[in-house]
Amino acid sequence: MASQVTGKAFDWKLLKRVMHYVKPYNGTFIISAVLTVFLAVSALVQPILIKKTLDEHIMLNDYNGLLFMVELMIGLLFIQTVAQYYQTYLTNALGQSVIRDLRIDIFNHITSLRLKYFDRTPIGMLITRTVSDLETIADIFSEGLISIIGDLLLVFAVIIYMLVQDWKLALITLIPMPFLFASTYVFKEAIKSSFQEVRTQVAQLNTFLAEHISGISIIQNFAREEQEMRKFKAVNLKYRDANIRSNWYYSIFFPVVEILFAVCIGLLVWYGCKRILSDGQLTVLSASGKGITPGVITEFILLLNILFRPIRQLADKFNTLQMGMVGADRIFKVLDTDEVAVNTGTLRPARLEGEIEFNNVWFAYNDENWVLKDINFHVKPGETLALVGATGAGKSSTINILNRFYEIGKGEVKVDGNNIHEYDVNYLRSQIATVIQDVFLFTDTIANNISLNNELITREQIIAAAKDVGAHEFIERLPGGYDYNVMERGATLSAGQAQLISFIRALVYDPAILVLDEATSSVDTETEILIQNAINKLMQGRTAIVIAHRLSTIQNADKIIVLDHGEIKEMGTHQELLRIDDGYYRKLYDLQFNSTGIAR
Ligand SMILES: Nc1ncnc2c1ncn2[C@@H]1O[C@H](COP(=O)(O)OP(=O)(O)OP(=O)(O)O)[C@@H](O)[C@H]1O
Ligand SMILES: [Mg+2]
Repeated sequence: MASQVTGKAFDWKLLKRVMHYVKPYNGTFIISAVLTVFLAVSALVQPILIKKTLDEHIMLNDYNGLLFMVELMIGLLFIQTVAQYYQTYLTNALGQSVIRDLRIDIFNHITSLRLKYFDRTPIGMLITRTVSDLETIADIFSEGLISIIGDLLLVFAVIIYMLVQDWKLALITLIPMPFLFASTYVFKEAIKSSFQEVRTQVAQLNTFLAEHISGISIIQNFAREEQEMRKFKAVNLKYRDANIRSNWYYSIFFPVVEILFAVCIGLLVWYGCKRILSDGQLTVLSASGKGITPGVITEFILLLNILFRPIRQLADKFNTLQMGMVGADRIFKVLDTDEVAVNTGTLRPARLEGEIEFNNVWFAYNDENWVLKDINFHVKPGETLALVGATGAGKSSTINILNRFYEIGKGEVKVDGNNIHEYDVNYLRSQIATVIQDVFLFTDTIANNISLNNELITREQIIAAAKDVGAHEFIERLPGGYDYNVMERGATLSAGQAQLISFIRALVYDPAILVLDEATSSVDTETEILIQNAINKLMQGRTAIVIAHRLSTIQNADKIIVLDHGEIKEMGTHQELLRIDDGYYRKLYDLQFNSTGIAR
């Protein structure tokens, strides 16, 4: 996968960028940080209190003092519990708030990207970015950054306190420490790469699933379940192995920490007890507060516990932080893709006339693999231009560049005498209704699928448009009528019905220009007539560019362009083109319409 965490210095710039998203929640951040520091420091107080209780009260039979200490400890415990509650709650809330804002940004950005970006980017990858990669950023706050600072603080405080208490005992007890730090470091490094592998495999898994569920009908139709299962098993296996590998490091690391902990305790008890025996006179020592007492030993055991707990988790937390940074890096990479349609145009006339001009237009999806070569044509307002040609000739590409889904390489495209770049791109698109080959419907009501949730479009307008294209009756017959819930991708409607919906969608926006990529899917005669009428209705009073498959659409066009391998071969009316003997259109006509006798 693209992003790599380098073994070297921490990426402060990236963190700064993440912290930028914390700004609106600065209050929460500061309170969480203060609580974290408080919890770290107060953890140290408990062993001190226990030592005092042992040495100064229990050893000396001071019952009242003991009672007071117990009350003090209960009080402290209560405050710690409350602080812990708020700390956990606030850090999590902070993380979730930050990623909510980021998620909005990323969705906003993704929806503004050029189609070209999506040609190269698997949907599953984008879903992984906006869902699981973002989750890792939330962990920066809930488990990473703040608690690492708290833990480090605690570790230093404990070590320094132990040294002050009795430096000889402390040094001997802490002999295994360098080994602990070393193994923590090794563990952290080992697990880092395996975590990255896990993330990569999650993305692969998501991509595979998204694609195969979308294409489920093909898989079932061609009985490819078994083969796809095999592929899925391979992806799944890789994911499992990546997880097992990272868990394997844990299963090595934790016992090592336990052993080191036991060694520390062993050293403590051995040296501590030796000192107690040689120093003698326990009660005197306890009262003086000097030397080694059972209280000190108990205190050190508790301190060691406090010391080991964060260290055990430190490697994990560093990784959480690092994974969050990897997630952030990936998300910012998506946010930084500048394949946004440049919108520098300002023209927004009240209404377009609908004159379209292509002057020496060259277009390629990639580099200089020209898909359209030197295209020239002129469509007057209200005219209909039909594009015909073999599959892959460049018909869809021609209409894709008119509304700037893709940008042309050379030449110019003009609408009403102005280069399309001079128009505000949103305005331009609002004036050009595009009905594409495969209709896409969202999981929503029929009405919302028509208006696309544009509040300016009333129910009356929707119904009027539906009546215009002759779809009102079939919609009324659906359970719930206009509120009938279309399932994902329009799965519960027929192809013809879905197409009619897309016509209403185009009509209700009342565009000046209509671009229609006629679907080739065959429908029954009744629907065919409906569609035919709907198309005629759509073209009325508008400039239209139609990628035509129906003979009637072609015949009625004011101008026909025959495209072949991205070049205009012939241009003229139906009659003119038919007259060209051995012409391309003539051949196409004979092949497609005459010989079969099917007039569609
Ligand atoms: N998104 C894309 N990225 C790269 N190349 C593309 C893309 N879309 C189409 N092409 C290529 O551009 C050429 C023209 O495709 P286009 O979709 O314009 O054909 P078409 O005339 O609409 O064909 P059809 O009748 O099959 O719809 C084809 O060679 C195709 O492989
Ligand atoms: Mg096409």
